Amino acid sequence: MIKKEQLNTNIPGHVAVIMDGNGRWAKKKGLFRAIGHENGTKAVREVVEGAAEINIKHLTLYAFSTENWNRPKLEIQTLMKLLVSSLKKEIKTLQKNNIKLNAIGNLDSLPEKARNELLEVIEKTKTNDHMTLTLALSYGSREELIKTVQEISIKVKNNVLSPHLINEAVINKHLYTTNLPDVDLLIRTSGERRISNFLLWQIAYAELYFTKILWPDFKRSDLFEAVFDYQQRERRFGKTSDQLS
Ligand code: FPP
Repeated sequence: MIKKEQLNTNIPGHVAVIMDGNGRWAKKKGLFRAIGHENGTKAVREVVEGAAEINIKHLTLYAFSTENWNRPKLEIQTLMKLLVSSLKKEIKTLQKNNIKLNAIGNLDSLPEKARNELLEVIEKTKTNDHMTLTLALSYGSREELIKTVQEISIKVKNNVLSPHLINEAVINKHLYTTNLPDVDLLIRTSGERRISNFLLWQIAYAELYFTKILWPDFKRSDLFEAVFDYQQRERRFGKTSDQLS
């Protein structure tokens, strides 16, 4: 088990997590999927506190994808209720740890109660600056890219922007993640090795870490383990090893 003292100063600035396996966790125990999601919220708290402890500046969690709208209505309702209750309960944790809440995705499509609660916590934590916790809600990377292309096209059409001035910075400015740096480390739990339409542009140079642990069982020591693994890797960004040294 990796302890935080074993991590060196090379802490990834932005860690993103695909929290997967709530349903399988419940099934294995003969419980309803809702109980899996409920226990998933405990893992969320573990990881948020653990990330703040080791000074990760940005943590982004994939809480609900655009594709998740295709799940049974009852499960969607459970997830939205859990979101509201967690926000109500965890605002204390966010304030105590000086964490700012942020959200990315098509927030207009969320139920009003969830959206209002979310916006309220975002407002209340907006001056916190130890870490930014971003929840991806009704988020899909392709939808985000379509929105970005549409917004840029309108600017070009209205002669506000010239096509040859479109560069990475312009694209970044129009993404939901506008104020976030690129992802350094992407973690996915539950043994699946897919990206599932999450932050496709932003993970261009991210290190990928897959673990078989089901999300409700994921503890802060598992986050430390992922960070430790990240610290053993050489990130070359297209250069050679010699150029880096
Ligand atoms: C994946 O498990 C998880 C989700 C679809 C949602 C993640 C939600 C939570 C952890 C709880 C609420 C979140 C917050 C931020 C309060 P799955 O259902 O896809 O698992 P399976 O693949 O085993 O079926």
